[in-house]
Amino acid sequence: MATPSTAQPETTGAVLEYQGKTLALPVVTGTEAESAVDIQALRAKTGLITLDPGFGNSGSCRSAITFIDGDQGILRYRGYDIAELAEKSTFLEVAWLLINGELPTRDQLSEFVNEITHHSLLHENFRNFYNALPKDAHPMPVCMSAVATLAAFYQQPESDEVTRENVVRLIAKMPTIAAWTYKHLIGQPFVYPRNDFDYSANFLHMMFATPAETYRVDPVLAKAIDQMFILHADHEQNCSTSTVRVVGSSRANVFASISAGIGALWGPLHGGANQQVIEMLERIDAEGGDVQRFVDRAKDKKDNSRLMGFGHRVYKNYDPRAALCKRTCNEVLNKLGMNNRLLEIAMKLEDIALHDEYFISHKLYPNVDFYSGIIFKALGIPIQAFTVMFTIGRLPGWIAHFLEMRKDPDTRIARPRQIYTGATQRSYVPLEARR
Ligand code: CMC
Repeated sequence: MATPSTAQPETTGAVLEYQGKTLALPVVTGTEAESAVDIQALRAKTGLITLDPGFGNSGSCRSAITFIDGDQGILRYRGYDIAELAEKSTFLEVAWLLINGELPTRDQLSEFVNEITHHSLLHENFRNFYNALPKDAHPMPVCMSAVATLAAFYQQPESDEVTRENVVRLIAKMPTIAAWTYKHLIGQPFVYPRNDFDYSANFLHMMFATPAETYRVDPVLAKAIDQMFILHADHEQNCSTSTVRVVGSSRANVFASISAGIGALWGPLHGGANQQVIEMLERIDAEGGDVQRFVDRAKDKKDNSRLMGFGHRVYKNYDPRAALCKRTCNEVLNKLGMNNRLLEIAMKLEDIALHDEYFISHKLYPNVDFYSGIIFKALGIPIQAFTVMFTIGRLPGWIAHFLEMRKDPDTRIARPRQIYTGATQRSYVPLEARR
């Protein structure tokens, strides 16, 4: 597995003046020249901590996995541009790249694909797991619990080899978990994986085949879903990936750590936004298609509405994934011969927002979730399961970060500090004396 970045502290640093003392702080520079003040000695030398809610200014680690330049709209996995990978690679090759640091050789790839293909079955007892759930269970808590439950099926003490096997199991079983979650939701029989299909075709097969008739996987649609997985595969220290690292830093196993990441991804401000985008587009449609009115509401601070699928903590330019999603969206709709009303509304919305002073001055552009939902809907994936698509895609990124964190000699259990703002010391008040 790959080692963390070799970026070294520079000799020149920053200087902090506090209560008449000066403290020299080293500056660390990465391979793309972005710099950080290393404050590891700060508290010991000055008694100060830093305060940075939402961690907008805090680097939590060195990482050699993904580079984002949010101002330029650049995203690269292990140095390779996202557009090139989406066009030329496959999801499993990208998974290998993220986890191992290099593109696989032909032999490495074929062995990896073979291993993933032969670990896709779930233990038969998993049927009981699904049967215990309510009929209308939302797919995200189901996936989260199913991944955590894998830890109960694979309990060997942790070692490099056991972790490697568990990584293979996770990537192999995630589409089966996702598809069975969907089948449970709609009350159809579970469909078993087929080893003669590739990863994404097999996923579509398990989602849409039934025992009643033959389901032919359309290679254009399988390619589209594979590309969508690639576009979601990693995004450096986002909320869910940071969650995976934080949980894993306690030495919790890979299943527990990834399960926690799925929980973080579920939130509407993170991966859950793809579901919210479609709901927003449908609402606009149901209310007569007045796009301008919705844009005005999103700008109104007294109104809680936001333009879902717009804005990003890091991108202050067009999210490169959104541009690729838009192209795939057109391809999928053409292939299916669909004239999609929601796509028309989305494009109108994008056009108005990109020319609106509020969105321009706030640097709010479409993000990956803006068009992905339209693709998923066109493929027949139900709205509640959209974030599950993101989950399958993001899995290799989470795994790569989990492994990098574990190998990094700088890793310590994640344990931020705080500035306490509560009551100072006071005496216990007996119940009868309280008002
Ligand atoms: N619509 C309207 N205004 C917005 C939006 C939006 N979608 N996003 C941010 N703003 C405004 C916000 O009101 C604030 O304005 P002001 O400075 O005047 O008070 C300013 O822009 C900064 O917003 P913020 O919430 O402080 O920015 P953030 O970096 O904390 O949040 C975000 C980033 C993605 C949570 C946010 O842009 C948002 O809620 N977007 C909609 C949800 C969404 O699409 N999420 C998916 C993100 S991409 C997939 C992923 O990686 O998870």
